[in-house]
Amino acid sequence: MPTAMKTAEEVEGMRLACRLASEVLDMLSPHVKPGITTREIDRLAHDYITQVQRAVPATLGYQPQGYPAYPASLCTSLNEVVCHGIPDDRPMKNGDIVNIDVTVIKDGWHGDNSRMYLVGEASIAARRLCAITYEAMWKGILKVRPGARLGDVGHAIQVHAEHHGYSIVREFCGHGVGRKFHEEPQVLHYGRPGTLEELVPGMTFTIEPMVNAGRRDIKEDRRGNRPYDGWTIVTRDRSLSAQWEHTVLVTETGVEVLTLSAGSPPPPAFAQAAGLVPA
Ligand code: MF3
Ligand code: CO
Ligand code: CO
Repeated sequence: MPTAMKTAEEVEGMRLACRLASEVLDMLSPHVKPGITTREIDRLAHDYITQVQRAVPATLGYQPQGYPAYPASLCTSLNEVVCHGIPDDRPMKNGDIVNIDVTVIKDGWHGDNSRMYLVGEASIAARRLCAITYEAMWKGILKVRPGARLGDVGHAIQVHAEHHGYSIVREFCGHGVGRKFHEEPQVLHYGRPGTLEELVPGMTFTIEPMVNAGRRDIKEDRRGNRPYDGWTIVTRDRSLSAQWEHTVLVTETGVEVLTLSAGSPPPPAFAQAAGLVPA
């Protein structure tokens, strides 16, 4: 299936859903501290999305082919968890790093985004991984414009991560997003310039690199000999993993980052210099 383009009216729907998704992460920020459980974070987000935003948490009950229904309103991926961590009753500890990934549906449109949070005082190594992964996402975003190709985006992300000695997870990628949570195209976070689909105004998709401090290999989470929960993915070597995610729109002249709000972390200086983000 070819990638669908959004009309001006459809883009307005995406803008709202995406801003709301970012505002959920803003709301959570002051709560992410040592001692809170990921289930408490999930509850805060669920109540905010449904009661304040009058929107729908897209992950709750989400069930792609071959997966059990996802049981929560967001994903919480701690430390060596690469993605799709399920909230539970373990309190987070000083020094943990956690990715919180929220997707809301508003008026039928999906907004999908995630950020890294430092729980208390994180180590220099953990902070560096989060920072480089954030930069890598923005390196990819800066490649987005009509006529560019998805391989340009993936390549820019990969080069930045690998230059710093990190590795890119290959098994999960960004995705088209709109009336459906996951649609065409697949957005790989590695690749060769000039390859893959050409970008056209009106496309909306996510860029969400997963970057490992160690090797890129991953596995299903069977830590502690628990039965597999069907979702949680960890690094095979147990190294730390980080991820950031934005939903973007290809405009006539470049890119618009849709998942921004008052509390979004500032883009790296190189992205601000490119004049992408309203000051
Ligand atoms: N939000 C994730 C993404 O960025 C998908 C999570 S699906 C879930 O694509 F079921 F695990 F929540
Ligand atoms: Co996504
Ligand atoms: Co997401």
